[in-house]
Amino acid sequence: MNLKLKSRLHNLRETIRHHDNLYYMQDAPDIPDAEYDRLLRELQELERAHPDLITPDSPTQRVGGKPLENFSQVQHRLPMLSLDNAFSDEEFLDFDRRVRERLEVESVDYVAEPKLDGLAISLLYEAGVLVRAATRGDGSTGEDVTVNIRTIPSIPLSLLGCNLPNIIEIRGEVYISHEGFLRLNRQALEQDQKPFANPRNAAAGSLRQLDPRITATRPLEMYCYGVGYVEGDMADRHSERLDQLRAWGMRVYPGIKRLNGQQACLDHYQWMTGQREQLPFDIDGVVYKVDRLDQQQEMGFVARAPRWAIARKFPAQEAITTVLAIDVQVGRTGAITPVARLEPVFVGGVTVTNATLHNEDEIRRKDVRVGDTVIVRRAGDVIPEVVSVVLGQRPLDDTQAFVMPTHCPVCGSEVLRAEGEAVMRCSGGLFCGAQRKEAIKHFAARRAMDVDGLGDKIVEQLVDKGLIKTVADLYQLRIEDVAELDRMAEKSAQNLLDALEKSKQTSLPRFLFALGIREVGETSARILAQHYGRLEALMESTEEKLQVIDGIGPVMAQHIAGFFHQPHNLEVIQQLQEAGVQWPDEEVMIEQPLKGKIFVLTGTLEHIKRNEAKDQLLAKGAKVSASVSKKTDYVVAGTDPGSKYTKAQELGVSILTEDELMGMLD
Ligand code: IVH
Repeated sequence: MNLKLKSRLHNLRETIRHHDNLYYMQDAPDIPDAEYDRLLRELQELERAHPDLITPDSPTQRVGGKPLENFSQVQHRLPMLSLDNAFSDEEFLDFDRRVRERLEVESVDYVAEPKLDGLAISLLYEAGVLVRAATRGDGSTGEDVTVNIRTIPSIPLSLLGCNLPNIIEIRGEVYISHEGFLRLNRQALEQDQKPFANPRNAAAGSLRQLDPRITATRPLEMYCYGVGYVEGDMADRHSERLDQLRAWGMRVYPGIKRLNGQQACLDHYQWMTGQREQLPFDIDGVVYKVDRLDQQQEMGFVARAPRWAIARKFPAQEAITTVLAIDVQVGRTGAITPVARLEPVFVGGVTVTNATLHNEDEIRRKDVRVGDTVIVRRAGDVIPEVVSVVLGQRPLDDTQAFVMPTHCPVCGSEVLRAEGEAVMRCSGGLFCGAQRKEAIKHFAARRAMDVDGLGDKIVEQLVDKGLIKTVADLYQLRIEDVAELDRMAEKSAQNLLDALEKSKQTSLPRFLFALGIREVGETSARILAQHYGRLEALMESTEEKLQVIDGIGPVMAQHIAGFFHQPHNLEVIQQLQEAGVQWPDEEVMIEQPLKGKIFVLTGTLEHIKRNEAKDQLLAKGAKVSASVSKKTDYVVAGTDPGSKYTKAQELGVSILTEDELMGMLD
């Protein structure tokens, strides 16, 4: 009986580990969640009845009991080194030259890995079982964070397979993804706790919890990038060792590349610079490592870093500067945004002079004042923001905390803050010049009415000169009105009128989006158009009917109904139609054969414009995303596909040709 029980326990644990591996390492679960839960429950029940048979590496033993008093110290058997940095192509080439000279070779095989921005961790497995996990600390002594590391679901408590080394120390980076970070900070705000400044701090804070039950709730993940101390045989190339780690169930980044020679590395860096924005986690550079271990050994170490590796760093995304002034801007929906005017500073590849302070709560939380030294951050295309104030450098003469204005700086209307909302809004509506300008810019935008040549500067002049008050006035403009604007010759004035004329032929989704109803983006506009078919039907609908439509929430329903209740808005719509703005009725969509499927388009399509393909996919219920992830169902590859194609291959996402896509759309 006991034998049978033991064998059932063993089987259950092995099966659960196998499914954990499919789920966490390969993103490819092959049983339903409910079935997995059933296995886990059976194991838990058997263990509860026979506590003497619980093993420390059982999948049920991730979250331990009591909080720790403190973390004990761990002496690393082999020091955990850091990396030298290269900040330019030249510095990388110097590194490569040093390697070639020392090894006396023409060119070197390198492995290129992302430089993850988290915390270095060492995992010690003895006889395949995780016995200790430690932070890097000062490189020779770290802290024992085993109980916390055990709670991370993607770290196996025991290695899979056979031929395992007796003892192996696996090293890698523990981090939190962007998605996990946002979720964590949302929770923190809901619970009136201080949010984390960035994913790195969130990961560090989560691992340094003395209570593992708290760590268990944090979305920590790990990618492994190397081996420390090892007793047992391993491959003699770094790239092959990473493959071995993968085979034993460790998570290794799938996009790690083997590259030969300097040029391949330089090209790869350029490529990664473009990839960076699309990655679901922060990286601050690319690490190049000599692949052959005999060559690594020959190169050796200097001070605290190996000579066989280098981190090619991306341009810094954070920099320090001073706040010259704090202004407020009024947006299309009247939202009042405080903006810090900065001493110009080069960050993330551009010179930044303004940074958003988001809203009243944020500015109060950060207590940003004129004269302060601040850290600004600019990541990719994201609007630069003030991360924090360097309080130690606050000027000694009396700085003042910033107070939000009570009245709109543009139109003087009262500024209101709705309950439960973080933003303050100018109550002036379209009476407010700022809101009017923004509404008109939005109306003319490429994805709305697509009025070619009606840029921001022109809209501002038209409003300032009193030539237009509403979007309907655009279609009453005469050539002499337009020609009087700055830098507007007769020819370009005519071009603008032609573009306005052309924009009159539109589609219902575009028109609805162009109206600028609060909360109604392109997708919701499309849903509304397909649901109602005709504008009149939508206008007659009610808040109650609107909110039951799939994809339209109660808040949006309220805004839509409210918009069509305003006599002023109805008048503008009527004027637009009288001026000749028109669209065909939409086919009311009932069938959505691609509902919920996520598509990504890459490369040039021959027979259909990318935007059209996107529209048709959306009309069939599919979603079109800009980047490939494990959730992507199909990547459509035209000619010269980009990095998304490679990513799709790496993740095993189905790749469609243009013909196959057309087949689906038919
Ligand atoms: S290798 C022998 N590989 O960067 C070299 N480190 O500056 C030891 N890091 O403490 C590290 N991604 O926290 C290596 N792919 C990667 C890395 C990486 C991030 C971090 C790690 C280390 C620091 C060194």
